[in-house]
Amino acid sequence: MNHPIVSAIETRQTINLFDPDRGISDEQIHDLVRLATMAPSSFNLQNWRFIAARTPEAKARLRKVGWDQPKITDAAVTFIVCGQLADHERTPERLAPAVESGIMPENVAAGWQGAAKSLYFEQPQRARDEAVRSATFGAGALIFAAHAMGLGSAPMIGFEPEGVAREFELAADEIPVMLLSVGFATPENWPQKPRRPLTQVLQLV
Ligand SMILES: Cc1cc2nc3c(=O)[nH]c(=O)nc-3n(C[C@H](O)[C@H](O)[C@H](O)COP(=O)(O)O)c2cc1C
Repeated sequence: MNHPIVSAIETRQTINLFDPDRGISDEQIHDLVRLATMAPSSFNLQNWRFIAARTPEAKARLRKVGWDQPKITDAAVTFIVCGQLADHERTPERLAPAVESGIMPENVAAGWQGAAKSLYFEQPQRARDEAVRSATFGAGALIFAAHAMGLGSAPMIGFEPEGVAREFELAADEIPVMLLSVGFATPENWPQKPRRPLTQVLQLV
C-alpha cells in the first residue's frame, strides 16, 4: 500500500530524545489540537481537553509531577491530554452544530441524548472508560498530526495523576489520561520497534 497515511503509520516512532533548542509556535500548537479534535468520540461528545505546557516554567512544573522525565522539558511542548467523564447532559450542546448545519435531524440528536443517558447516567466506570477512550483517540490523532508536521511525539503514563490535577487545576470531572510530548527529534532515537506477529493478535472469526 503506497499511501501517505500508511507510510505515517509505518514510520512513526516514539521519541525519547528531543532537541531542547527547537520550539514550535503557538499557531502550530493550535493546528495540532485542531487536528486532534477531528478524532471520533462517542456521541460526538468531544469529552477532552488539551493543556499545552510550552513555557520553560510550565514544562518544569509538569516534569516535577511527571517522574522527572527529561522529555517533558526537552520537547517543544508537552500536552496534558485530559478526558472528561462522559455526561449525557452535554449532548445537546455538543450536537447542536451538527443539527444547525443540517447534518443531523433534531429528533436523532434527542435520541442520542437518551442513548447516552442509558449508557452513562449513574455508571461511573463507563463514564470514566469513555473519558479515557476519547482522550486516547484525541492523542492518537495528535500524534499523526505531529508526524505530518515533521514533529516527533512521546506518549507517557509515567506521571502522578493527583499531582498533575493539582498543579494544572483540572476540574473534578477531568482525568489526566496521558502526557504527550511533541517536538523535534534528535538523530539518535530508536526506530519503531518490531510488533507482535499477527498470529498472536488477530483472530478471524
Ligand atoms: C500509553 C502509553 C504510555 C507510555 N508511557 C511512557 C512513559 O511514561 N515513558 C516513556 O519513556 N515511554 C512511554 N511510552 C512509550 C512506549 O514505551 C512506546 O510507545 C513503545 O515502546 C513503542 O515504541 P515505538 O512506537 O517507537 O515502537 C508510553 C506509550 C504509551 C502508548
